[in-house]
Parts: sequence; C-alpha cells; structure tokens
Amino acid sequence: MDHHDQTIKDFGEQWLKYSDNEGYYGSLELFEDILSPFLRPNEIKGCKVAEIGSGTGRIANMVLAAGVRHVIAVEPSDAFKVLIRNIVDPERVTCLKITGDQLPPYGDLDYIFSIGVLHHVRDPGPVVRAAFRALRPGGRFLVWLYGKEGNSLYLLLLKPLRIITKHLPHSILATLVEIIYRPIAFYIKLCRRFPLPLRGYMLWVFERFSPGKRRLAIYDQLNPSYAKYYSQKEAKGLLGGMGFANVLVHHRHGYSWTVIGTKP
Ligand SMILES: C[S@@+](CC[C@H](N)C(=O)[O-])C[C@H]1O[C@@H](n2cnc3c(N)ncnc32)[C@H](O)[C@@H]1O
Repeated sequence: MDHHDQTIKDFGEQWLKYSDNEGYYGSLELFEDILSPFLRPNEIKGCKVAEIGSGTGRIANMVLAAGVRHVIAVEPSDAFKVLIRNIVDPERVTCLKITGDQLPPYGDLDYIFSIGVLHHVRDPGPVVRAAFRALRPGGRFLVWLYGKEGNSLYLLLLKPLRIITKHLPHSILATLVEIIYRPIAFYIKLCRRFPLPLRGYMLWVFERFSPGKRRLAIYDQLNPSYAKYYSQKEAKGLLGGMGFANVLVHHRHGYSWTVIGTKP
C-alpha cells in the first residue's frame, strides 16, 4: 500500500474511533479563528462552497452554521459514513466519497476550504488544480497547513516518535496518548507564564478543546502515515504555482499557515 492509500486508511480508522465534533472543536468560533484574518464566517452566507477532506464533518457543519446555500463535502476514507451521520442539514449538503483531485469541475463555486488535509497528501498539485477548476472566476480557495516555522523544537521530538507511532495499532497508540496527556497539561501551565514553543496553539486552540478532543489532537499528530510541515515559501507556492492570484499567507498562532488564493 503506498503512502496515499495508507494515509486515507489511517484517517478512516481514526475517525471511526473519534467520531463526534463536540465543543469548541466543532464550533463556529473556531471556524472564525481558522478563517481569520482573511474571511469572516458571514462573508460566506448564501454561497455555494466545497470542503475537501471533510473527515467527521466538523468543517462542513461550520460552513452550514455560517449560512452557506450549499456545501459539497469530499471525504475519501471510511470516515465517509461518519460524515453522513454527523451532517446537521443534509438538504444543503452533497457528500462525495472521492479524493480531492476528483472534485468535479463545477466552475461555479464561490469558496473551497481544505483544512488540515493537503499536508497529508504527498502530491497535492492535482487537488489544487481540481479546486481551481471547480471555482468560479473570482472564487477563493482557503487552505490550512501545518507550519515548519515555529515548530523546529517540536519537530525534533515528533519526527523520530512518528517513525514508530504511525505503525502502532489503535489500542497501543491510545495508551501512549494517555501517557503524553498529563505532561502536556503541565506544559500548558508553563506556556501561560513563559514564551515556550507552540504557546499560541496551546493557549488559543488546544486548551479550549474538551479532554476528549485534546486526546484526539495528540493522536492526530502521531497516527497518519504521511504529514508534511510547510515552510512559508512552500505554503504560498502551493496555490501561487497553480494559477491562483492574490495569494496571501498568515502564520496562524505562530505554528501553522493559512493560505488563500483567488481564481482570476
Ligand atoms: C486531519 S483530517 C481533517 C478533517 C477535516 N478537514 C477537519 O478539519 O476536521 C484530513 C482528512 O483528509 C482526508 N484526505 C486524505 N487524503 C485526501 C485526499 N487526497 N483528498 C481528499 N481528502 C483526503 C482524510 O481522509 C481525512 O479525513
């Protein structure tokens, strides 16, 4: 099995174990934070949008809460059945069990979102090209990616750990998450007082999650077969090199990149 198929399989299994979107993790408030500073949720009201890599449907439900007219939710893994189950307003949603590169060339979408997905795709070019074709002229593609900048110390720890953890079965990985959970709670306390690595993420995102979603966030770092941490240049080039104009990047909470581009 290649990386592409294995990563999709990993997520299928992950989302069957962590299937709900409760609390801040699935909230409009978090969506507002993800879109900032490029968009506000009320700007997508009445729009036709797509979301690539929907997982359990939390982002699809966020765009519904923001008032979109219709959302096309794309999810290739076994999480598709979780997605269908979790969607709050099925009449405004079309769910497609396809990979992002197979998104039909609608040509009339106002926005496409892909949050936490393209850094798990070894060759994201075909997905970006499919998004470009599916947008209307003037339509915008917003992507959120793991960042390289701001994560150097973290990656020194994570990369060797992942060599092992990405192969672990669920029960062992979930036990490891339990072991890591308490030291992270202590680390958050330290982040409140000192400017430590990942401070922005810890205080503005992770700490606001419920205990269950904090465990998922740790698991999600250790489980997927493929994960790339993008430099600012690579993040900008992802859309800029594919025909998108006005490509802007934002270093979200100092650990990740939000990228937005417009189809000319
Ligand atoms: C980290 S999850 C993010 C889920 C969702 N966007 C969210 O923020 O909750 C990444 C998702 O992308 C999906 N995925 C992986 N490769 C993909 C591809 N080539 N095209 C579309 N989705 C893909 C995975 O199955 C997984 O559900």
